[in-house]
Amino acid sequence: PMVEFLNFEVLEDHGWALEDEALFEKAGDANLQSTDFGRFYVDPNDTLLEAAEKNGFAWPFACRGGACTNCAVAVVEGEMPSPASHILPPELTEKGIRLSCIAAPVSDNAKIVYNLKHLPEVSELLL
Ligand code: FES
Repeated sequence: PMVEFLNFEVLEDHGWALEDEALFEKAGDANLQSTDFGRFYVDPNDTLLEAAEKNGFAWPFACRGGACTNCAVAVVEGEMPSPASHILPPELTEKGIRLSCIAAPVSDNAKIVYNLKHLPEVSELLL
């Protein structure tokens, strides 16, 4: 799968909303740094976090086991199934929030906002 990614801190800096349908278009026009906005390919069998690291990106994590939410991302477009065992409550998985250390996109293309640990609903779960 090809993943297009955007740093959540950019949303905060620009006052953009996760729900904004034109979010990635705005990001494309904003001259962002290559660590904040870009794309990479996820090899089969890699988690999204592993794929980011293989491509040279330092995305947040701590436990690597679905237990801390430091690695949370929001799936804006595409499919990224969530394994059964993890710390995220249903209210967040229903909104498309996933843990990048234990999951990966399965659709050919996905749009992902990483660094979601700064979203208030996620940061209150941080361990
Ligand atoms: Fe802890 Fe992913 S790194 S849940």
